Amino acid sequence: MIAPVKIVGIGEGLPKLIVTNKMMEQIVDTSDEWIVQRTGIKQRYILTDDTTVSISVEASKKAIEKAGLSVRDIQLVIASTIASTDRVPTLAGSVQRELGISDCPAFDVSAGCTGFIYGLVTAASLMDTLQLDNALVLAGEGISKHIDWADRSTCVLFGDGAGAIVLRRSSEGSIHYPVLMGKSDEENVLTIKNKDDDTPWYRYPSEQNTKLVMKGREVFTFASEVLADTITLLKEKCKDKPFTKIIPHQANSRIIEYVARITGFKQDQFFINLSKFANTSSASILLALWDAYTQRWLAPGDRIALIGFGSGLTWGGVVIDWTLE
Ligand SMILES: CC(C)(COP(=O)(O)OP(=O)(O)OC[C@H]1O[C@@H](n2cnc3c(N)ncnc32)[C@H](O)[C@@H]1OP(=O)(O)O)[C@@H](O)C(=O)NCCC(=O)NCCS
Repeated sequence: MIAPVKIVGIGEGLPKLIVTNKMMEQIVDTSDEWIVQRTGIKQRYILTDDTTVSISVEASKKAIEKAGLSVRDIQLVIASTIASTDRVPTLAGSVQRELGISDCPAFDVSAGCTGFIYGLVTAASLMDTLQLDNALVLAGEGISKHIDWADRSTCVLFGDGAGAIVLRRSSEGSIHYPVLMGKSDEENVLTIKNKDDDTPWYRYPSEQNTKLVMKGREVFTFASEVLADTITLLKEKCKDKPFTKIIPHQANSRIIEYVARITGFKQDQFFINLSKFANTSSASILLALWDAYTQRWLAPGDRIALIGFGSGLTWGGVVIDWTLE
């Protein structure tokens, strides 16, 4: 069961450096025009001397402050990441340490770009199971460290960033109709392989590609299908009180435009901000939610669908009644 909770705080954390498409033209054979036309991306934030942990801490601190809570009130920390600073400790554990959050369950989820949706549903479910009042759910990604900066077909698409929300138990629940789904990536359409270090018992082949590798067209087809299917499923589930706005994972504006057409929603019912941030993997829905909230695109009383899709392959969504003023 999902606990009756609502979002009471939200925050963002971004690296200092903005890399524009013009700057990308200096490092690979690409053009601002190609990137904008094919993806909608104009710039991305990239880590330099900041880290996935530092931007995640910043986002979490802002979310807790916005909630009017203290770090002592947080009883659960779930962080979504595929690209944290360290393998150990977890991103959640590092945020807990840096912010001085009291002893509580703290762990990471890894579900590609759908990670935040998995983290949100897990948090709301654990808040019921463990009878908790306040939880911090964040996503932090330093995907630039896993990009092949010589591969123009992928390096223009991604950016780094972090976002966080605080969930608080409330009399009325505002998170509904969770959908979590996954299927095997039979054709390796989206991978980042680990580097295997030799052991005294085995020498691994030296020519391992440990950077992000993507079959763009296949991913485009998968993403469009599952985004459209999840919208249709959620629409069916909340016929009595339909959602009117959609915040999808920000991968490519053409995916969103295409899905808007086939699902019968208007373009302006989708929030799109990937021109500013590019694809920040599991942080993208949180950065879009934060941006939509601060731009007042979202207002209390709005019923919205959040939908993610990505490597794994994974996808999922929830419907939220927005309450934050
Ligand atoms: C990656 C993506 C933008 C590529 O667009 P596309 O229309 O499929 O383009 P293609 O891969 O067919 O490439 C078309 C041409 O552009 C070239 N190209 C690729 N990247 C380029 C770049 N950055 N700049 C200029 N040209 C580029 C290709 O080499 C190809 O040239 P060719 O025709 O001479 O071989 C698109 O497939 C996509 O968005 N896929 C989904 C990605 C995604 O969402 N991933 C994350 C999911 S969580």
